[in-house]
Amino acid sequence: MNIVVNPSALNSGAVSVPGDKSISHRALMLGAVADGTTTISGFLAGEDCRATLGALRAMGVKIDELSATDLSVSGAGLYGLRRPSGPLDMGNSGTAMRLFAGLLCGQSFSSTLIGDESLSNRPMNRVIKPLSMMGARIGAEEGKPPLHIDGGQKLTGLVYRLPVASAQVKSAILLAGLYADGEVTVIEPAVTRDHTERMLRSMGVALTQGETQIILNGGQNLKGTNIEVPADLSSAAFVILAAIISADAEVTIARVGVNPTRTGVIDILKDMGADISIDNVQLFGEEPVADITVRSSRLFGIDVDPAKVSLAIDEFPVLFVAAACADGKTTFTGLEELRVKESDRIAAMAEGLRALSVPVDESPDGAVVHGGKLYGGVVRSHGDHRIAMSFAVAGTVAEWPVHIEDTDAVATSFPGFVDCLRSLGVDIACQDGGGES
Ligand code: S3P
Repeated sequence: MNIVVNPSALNSGAVSVPGDKSISHRALMLGAVADGTTTISGFLAGEDCRATLGALRAMGVKIDELSATDLSVSGAGLYGLRRPSGPLDMGNSGTAMRLFAGLLCGQSFSSTLIGDESLSNRPMNRVIKPLSMMGARIGAEEGKPPLHIDGGQKLTGLVYRLPVASAQVKSAILLAGLYADGEVTVIEPAVTRDHTERMLRSMGVALTQGETQIILNGGQNLKGTNIEVPADLSSAAFVILAAIISADAEVTIARVGVNPTRTGVIDILKDMGADISIDNVQLFGEEPVADITVRSSRLFGIDVDPAKVSLAIDEFPVLFVAAACADGKTTFTGLEELRVKESDRIAAMAEGLRALSVPVDESPDGAVVHGGKLYGGVVRSHGDHRIAMSFAVAGTVAEWPVHIEDTDAVATSFPGFVDCLRSLGVDIACQDGGGES
């Protein structure tokens, strides 16, 4: 499927966006190894989380789908997963593959994790190394999937200083830590999303959490609970920017996750001049949520603080579009991790913005984006959901239509994206079958 966006001013209004991807994966995985039932509402019924759901079912976990977004997981207990009859397909999801590597290396049975073409090229040594230090045996070709995980290994504790800031690696170690004899300590180079820690706590697991250090004792059982998944700020970010750069709009997005380990995008946009307010803060379990209201604003180029990178790691594609719409130049540094996401996001954004006549100077760890006018054109998504959605937002303010190629991956994280923008008055169309994305 391709998406075409014609220049459009947004209407004011209220929209909702789907559930948080990171929290939905974790709710399924932790619910599966808990004792008792875990109910999940607001689940993200996107392809990534469906891959996690399918893998758990393949290991014998009973998951009832009461609706697309309401699930009930019958916890199998820490040792209740069963050997799957074939490889477990993680699709496009790095989170699923890395977290399952941690969860499965302490099981009595062996398993194999596979993924699509993009995932098959993503680095896995970052989880293989610490898990092996705990006693896991994981085979991979040149550090890439498929991962072959040997069952029946005895895991021990470890103290591990992460070489890169990664919530996926941290979470993999903590999940393996549940099966370890002893204590695991993870030390992060920068704060990353802490959904695993919060959810473990809400399920009765004791852990010590400092700003960048987490300590967990192995052998603790999880208790099933009720999990209400907040709307995903990473998806809301596309709507937020579309409203900011529109002529005259005020848009509210309800009950969005505002965990401080995720809100870097709001801080960076505010630093650029955006008018964003956060109201009605409440807790969904251990996760703060709020209504976010955003008003059209003039943006200015800035030097983005590299200390905020890990707090906005998935939002840089849309922040590159913000920079293209700002007055002056915006400098991004410290973004080397973006080169190993679903695509090389620095290269993909530089290529696409240049196709819309925005000057971009690319560097190994970032870019300088020279803001001003966006013209129309054809851009490639590189099969990456966030690249596709970022350019759809760019299309709302370009001089001519923007055609985005190969946008099927939008369904991995934001089912209903096209309808959501359309409900705000964006002139957006799907080509090649015209299906919903
Ligand atoms: C995620 C962590 C981040 C993020 C990804 C989701 C998670 O990846 O980019 O979309 O759910 O833990 P890294 O941990 O590799 O930075």
